[in-house]
Amino acid sequence: MKVTTIIGAQWGDEGKGKVTDYLADDSKVVARSQGGNNAGHTIVVDGKKHKLHLLPSGILRKDVVSVIGNGVVVNPDVLLKELDNLESERGQLLISDRAHVIMPYHKLLDGGEESSKGKSMIGTTGNGIGPCYSDKASRIGIRMGDLLDDDTIIERLEKALPRNQALLDHYGAPNDFTIDNLLVLCRKWRDKLGEYITDTSLLISKHIASGDNILLEGAQGVHIDIEYGTYPFVTSSSPTTAGAALGSGIAPSKITDVVGVTKAYLTRVGSGPFPTELEDTVGEMIREKGQEFGTTTGRPRRCGWLDLVMLELSNRICGFTSLAIMKLDILSDMEEIKVCVAYEDHTGSQINHFPSSLSYLAKCKPVYKTFSGWSSSDIDIPKGIIPDEMKTFLSFVSEKLSIPISIVSLGPGRDETIIL
Ligand code: GDP
Ligand code: IMO
Ligand code: MG
Repeated sequence: MKVTTIIGAQWGDEGKGKVTDYLADDSKVVARSQGGNNAGHTIVVDGKKHKLHLLPSGILRKDVVSVIGNGVVVNPDVLLKELDNLESERGQLLISDRAHVIMPYHKLLDGGEESSKGKSMIGTTGNGIGPCYSDKASRIGIRMGDLLDDDTIIERLEKALPRNQALLDHYGAPNDFTIDNLLVLCRKWRDKLGEYITDTSLLISKHIASGDNILLEGAQGVHIDIEYGTYPFVTSSSPTTAGAALGSGIAPSKITDVVGVTKAYLTRVGSGPFPTELEDTVGEMIREKGQEFGTTTGRPRRCGWLDLVMLELSNRICGFTSLAIMKLDILSDMEEIKVCVAYEDHTGSQINHFPSSLSYLAKCKPVYKTFSGWSSSDIDIPKGIIPDEMKTFLSFVSEKLSIPISIVSLGPGRDETIIL
């Protein structure tokens, strides 16, 4: 029995969907534990691309149970659309009765909050994620289990609506919500999704007791974690090992493996600091070749060199038992490749730990180690052959972080993967 957690070690979009889909092969349950449809996970099966936002990346495997855990915020309309769009047969889906519902006013509030911030906007995905988690923390949220009963829906809306309406008015956002029209919507969601709503913590614990392999599919990445990310340029949940355990209702001690997923370089969507950002032709090359455009919003992703100072923090918080290094193919045929090994601060001191202060971080410059590039012609995936220069790069990353590398990814497809 293994309980494996897949964690984005950077700013999201590391390739968690691909790793989850790959490892789902010998798993019985794949669960999402946090975030919502701000996530965009791409999996490529037999050359066909599938983009998933809320459905776990095990959904395309018929014998896998897909779970939307209690820590996820669910937009039922998005979920229904995603289910409709699935062309191939899918496995069983279950949704936690404790997962919170993204209501239409949350999405409008996300827009209002962002506009009010002007230049200091976070660059959210605009999906109402933050406002929904705010209601959860304020104890006026609506949970999936609440949808099962009219009286509970009305009781919850009586608490949630006045405050959300006041906020909508504050931002000058349109506001024609009433308890009656929201009740109609909630009933529609109950009719279509009610059969999937259950206590998923209980279900997962039964599978663990039966010795089944479980995968917890992280969304986002450690550096947009609400606790340890570049606050306030973060998301509103915890994309960490601890967040995965809590958000799926599993005791942390049951987790056996933690795979930290990182690109061989670095990307970020939205605002916030980025010490190794490449605002030059190299950055543009990586963006074009790596097709670094958001899966959810289509926005161009900012690109830069791999940053081991960031990964040290990710590992400290999450305890990676191995690393999956993604998109190494994108760096093929470059003359040289850089890796940030430390920062130099404004006083000239070298620092090895990611600071919490963004104003201090803004004064830090990356210290690089430069590696010789490798040739794509020296890669033979079916034979598991990688070029010596790539081996040197990977060994350095692994030794510097003291984490073994388990997965080397050289393309979006399932078969473009080497297991070490
Ligand atoms: P996620 O949010 O972490 O699941 O990642 P995204 O799906 O948002 O972004 C990763 C993108 O890289 C997707 O388009 C994947 O199909 C693609 N991808 C994943 N691994 C590799 C790889 O090793 N090489 C290449 N070229 N593309 C990859
Ligand atoms: P996956 O799972 C990359 C970013 C947004 C924004 C910030 C807050 O595909 O890796 P939010 O809508 O969550 O309130 O936005 O977080 N963000 C992501 N960036 N990948 C993601 O998910 C992200 N989910 C949120 O761009 O900067
Ligand atoms: Mg993504």
